[in-house]
Amino acid sequence: MATGYGRVSVPFADKRITEISCHALGAHHLFPDTGTVIDIGGQDSKVIRLDKHGKVVDFSMNDKCAAGTGRFLEVMAERLGVALDQLGSLSQQAEREIEISSVCTVFAESEVVSLIARNQPKAEIIRGLHKAIVGRVWSMVKALGVSGAVTMSGGVAKNQGVVRLMEAKLGQAVHIHSEPQIIGALGAALAALRGGKA
Ligand SMILES: Nc1ncnc2c1ncn2[C@@H]1O[C@H](COP(=O)(O)OP(=O)(O)OP(=O)(O)O)[C@@H](O)[C@H]1O
Ligand SMILES: [Mg+2]
Repeated sequence: MATGYGRVSVPFADKRITEISCHALGAHHLFPDTGTVIDIGGQDSKVIRLDKHGKVVDFSMNDKCAAGTGRFLEVMAERLGVALDQLGSLSQQAEREIEISSVCTVFAESEVVSLIARNQPKAEIIRGLHKAIVGRVWSMVKALGVSGAVTMSGGVAKNQGVVRLMEAKLGQAVHIHSEPQIIGALGAALAALRGGKA
């Protein structure tokens, strides 16, 4: 079973299904009460609504722009000299956030550079960055609507700072698996097990 953007380039695959279906299946398998999946990966972010069988009902995706994706955080972590897996815990040490006013990754990066030059606390900058990414993804969540429990997938679900801010926006706790980056792969394997049906 091949999935993802490169699924057409896997010559030995027997079948191919979309990553959207895979994330829905994987999340439903791990957390059967999932009604909404928020997947924030390195290159795109997606919000998926599913029925009680794990089948996709509707989805929204941003794959046009790095803002609202993990790439945004990768760029900023590098600028700040902070490891990706430290962003979450650092941001939670901040009592407030410094607002990042640019939506665009390129402009936000220069904003961060000047904040660093002005010796602003890194934790507050990071919290501001988390707020920016959550705001971007939130506009998709709001447009699609939330039903049932929410599961977050993708690498950014490992970032506790982003997860907490998303929970505050949603007004509910979200399911986070210990391995959120392989939920799509799990879904692909489950689809293969079912003979290729999503
Ligand atoms: N240990 C970690 N702690 C915090 N964030 C992390 C960690 N590992 C990865 N990330 C975040 O996850 C992102 C990558 O997510 P993921 O692996 O789901 O992307 P992908 O599936 O390869 O890409 P896409 O789905 O967008 O095509 C990175 O950009 C980074 O922001
Ligand atoms: Mg992905």
